[in-house]
Amino acid sequence: MKKYRWGIIGTGRIARQFAAALKGCADAELYAVGSRSIGKAESFAAEFGFERSYGSYAELAEDDNIDIIYIATPMASHYEDSLLCIKNGRNVLCEKSIALNSTQLSEMIAAAGDKGVFFMEAMWTKCRPTFLKALEWIKNGCIGDVKYIKADFCNLMPYNENDRTFIYECGGGALLDLGVYPITFAAAILGDEPDEIISYAHMAHKVDMSNSITLKYGDSVAVLQSGFEVQNTNRALIAGDKGAIVLGDWFHCTTQAWLYDADMNEIEYSEIPVDVNGYEYEIYEAHRCLSAGMKESSLVPLSSTAAVMRIMDKCRRDWGMYYPGETPDQLAK
Ligand SMILES: NC(=O)c1ccc[n+]([C@@H]2O[C@H](COP(=O)([O-])OP(=O)(O)OC[C@H]3O[C@@H](n4cnc5c(N)ncnc54)[C@H](OP(=O)(O)O)[C@@H]3O)[C@@H](O)[C@H]2O)c1
Repeated sequence: MKKYRWGIIGTGRIARQFAAALKGCADAELYAVGSRSIGKAESFAAEFGFERSYGSYAELAEDDNIDIIYIATPMASHYEDSLLCIKNGRNVLCEKSIALNSTQLSEMIAAAGDKGVFFMEAMWTKCRPTFLKALEWIKNGCIGDVKYIKADFCNLMPYNENDRTFIYECGGGALLDLGVYPITFAAAILGDEPDEIISYAHMAHKVDMSNSITLKYGDSVAVLQSGFEVQNTNRALIAGDKGAIVLGDWFHCTTQAWLYDADMNEIEYSEIPVDVNGYEYEIYEAHRCLSAGMKESSLVPLSSTAAVMRIMDKCRRDWGMYYPGETPDQLAK
C-alpha cells in the first residue's frame, strides 16, 4: 500500500485533532511538523510520532520527502503559508477559511495551477458520510425541490484577547471561523451563486462576534446564523416540497440524519459512526485525489470554495469589516 507522507504547519488545537486522525489512517505517514518554535515542533512530533520536526515553516516546505502539507495556522496566515508550500511544489490541504478574501484565493489557486500541485480547503464537513447521505437523499428526490435551509453554527465562547478566533490581525471573527460552514452547506445544496445576499453582523473588537445571513435563490432561501455569543443545538434543516432532512449537530461531525415526509413522519434514520474522529474523511479524500493524479477534490472543488469566499466578501463589504492592510477592492462585490 502506498503511504502518503504528511507534513503539518502549526501546532495548535486543530493540528492536534488532525494528527490524531492521521494516526488512524493506515495509508498516512506522520512524517514532519513545522512550528515557529523548534521546541513546540519537537514536543508535538514526540507526542504524535512524527519523524521530523522543523523550527520554521520554510524548512518544512522545502523538505522534498513530503507528499502533502496540512496548514493549520490562523486565517490571516493561510495565503502566505499556502503560497510558501505551493511554490516549493507541495500539495496542500489548507484549513478553513482558506484565505481572507477572493483576491488572495485567486492568487493561491493560480499558483497551485502553475505548479501543478493538489490544492484543497480542509472543509471536513463536506467529506463526511452523513453529509453525503443527505445529498444522496436530495438527489434521489426524497424531499422534492429544496425550498428552505436553516443552518446555524453558534458556539458560546467568552472573549479572549489572546485567542486567534477573536484577533483582528489573525483574521478573527465568527464569519471566517464558523459562518463559512453554514454558507458552504447551503451553497452545496442550493448552488454557488445566490441571487441575493442579505446579512447583519454584531461587531466588537473590529470583527463580527455574531452574524446572520440570508441567501436567496429564486423562490428558495437559506437562513444561516453563526457566532460566539450564544450556544445553539447547531442542527441543520433542509426542507423540500415533499419532505425534509434534519442533521444532528452537523458542524461538529454529526453521525445522525433523519429523513421525513411532508407531514414530518420519520421515513428513514441514518447513523454512520466515524472511523477515527471525523477528520479522517478529508484525509481519505486527499489520498484518493493524489492516487488518481487529481489536482483538486471533487468533494470540495475549488470553484465552490471560491464561491463561498465571494459570499463572505460580500457580507464583509456590507459590514465595512476589512482586515489589516486589506482594501475594499480585494473583496468580491
Ligand atoms: N476543521 C475544524 O473543525 C477546525 C476547528 C478549529 C480550527 N480550524 C481552523 O484551523 C486553523 C487553526 O485554528 P486553531 O483553532 O487550531 O488555532 P490555534 O489553536 O490558535 O493554533 C494555530 C497555530 O498556528 C500557528 N500560528 C502561526 N501564526 C500564528 C499567530 N499569529 N497567532 C497564533 N498562532 C499562529 C501556531 O503554531 P506554531 O506556534 O506551532 O507555529 C498555532 O499553534 C484556523 O484556520 C481555523 O479556522 C478548523
